[in-house]
Amino acid sequence: MSLVSFSFPTPTLFGAGSLSELPARLKTFGILRPLIVTDMGLVQTDAFRALARTLGEAAQGKQWFVYPGVHPNPIENDVRESAAEFTRHNCDAIIAIGGGSPLDVGKAARLLVKRPGLDFAKFYDERDWSGLAPFIAIPTTAGTGSEVGRSSVITLDSTHRKAVLFHPELLAKLVILDPQLTTGLPPKLTAATGADALTHCIESYTCPAFHPMCDGIALEGIRLIAEALPRAFRNGADLDARGKMLVAAAMGAVAFQKDLGVVHSLAHPLSTICGLHHGLANALCLVAGMKFCAARKPGLYRRVGIACGLDLVKTSDSAADQATIQFITDFLAGLGLNTRLRDHGVKPEQLDALVAQAVDDPCHKTNAVPVTPADLRQLYQEVM
Ligand SMILES: [Fe+2]
Repeated sequence: MSLVSFSFPTPTLFGAGSLSELPARLKTFGILRPLIVTDMGLVQTDAFRALARTLGEAAQGKQWFVYPGVHPNPIENDVRESAAEFTRHNCDAIIAIGGGSPLDVGKAARLLVKRPGLDFAKFYDERDWSGLAPFIAIPTTAGTGSEVGRSSVITLDSTHRKAVLFHPELLAKLVILDPQLTTGLPPKLTAATGADALTHCIESYTCPAFHPMCDGIALEGIRLIAEALPRAFRNGADLDARGKMLVAAAMGAVAFQKDLGVVHSLAHPLSTICGLHHGLANALCLVAGMKFCAARKPGLYRRVGIACGLDLVKTSDSAADQATIQFITDFLAGLGLNTRLRDHGVKPEQLDALVAQAVDDPCHKTNAVPVTPADLRQLYQEVM
């Protein structure tokens, strides 16, 4: 029996209106001058205005500052500029608000604050992670679950590929999950980000590592998504559905501390090479990935199907997989996610580059069943 480590450490506040707790928490932490890290789109939204109002009311002689320049796929410069703003205004904490990108930049910027001027790529060899400024995460999408993750994905200048910075010290000191901040998310983005959360739950549950705690969290995340995502998609103002999706997204990310699988290896290059939204890329590859795994490990998706509400307890392995895969196929179609790669501008001549990057991606190494370069090519062709 190998040694394994289980960790679920992030203090999380949940509920409609939970943002209003922020000033009291800042006071408890002794935070006086936070830097808000976000993107240009978000500063125009009601979610950002709600945060500004909340901090404004709390400030009374204190101050807060904003770095709004994070790119949709974050680059090194986003981290450098955030750290420079932090230092310029003598800040003492980072509050990141938005989707996964501002959250990832907010986490990483604290390292550059501590070690100004250091080549960003050198942080991958960093040993001393002590003394980082406190980090508070406020997600406005329900997808990546970056708020509870201990990693930060930044595209490096030197390689133009996404690199994953990973350390427990990157974790947030506080996460605020307030569904009121997600009601403005349009249906298309609600669907795509929700599909990312669903893929996290399915891939983490089915990867073979021993982690029954993550397995339980992943299955309950699937149940919540199956129930709430169609409702949030149809009616963005449904606070109950929005709340369940926020929690399910965080659960997906907690679960994938276990690992991910082949669908994420297919999705990552679709973003870096073809510019597809990460959630959309997962959605377009999910069913093909499930068919691939089920054919090699019958019965793999029985409990996924049961979590979706299907009666599969006494069904044969292959029938249980088939019913679950059909449910996911219909579920994604109901969210408008039944298109193909070519519908989103992916060209057959990009196939070689996609396969090359997918082979290098680490996620498929922890997939439910082994994956070869030829398998990755075949899977891309199936969804092209
Ligand atoms: Fe993902």
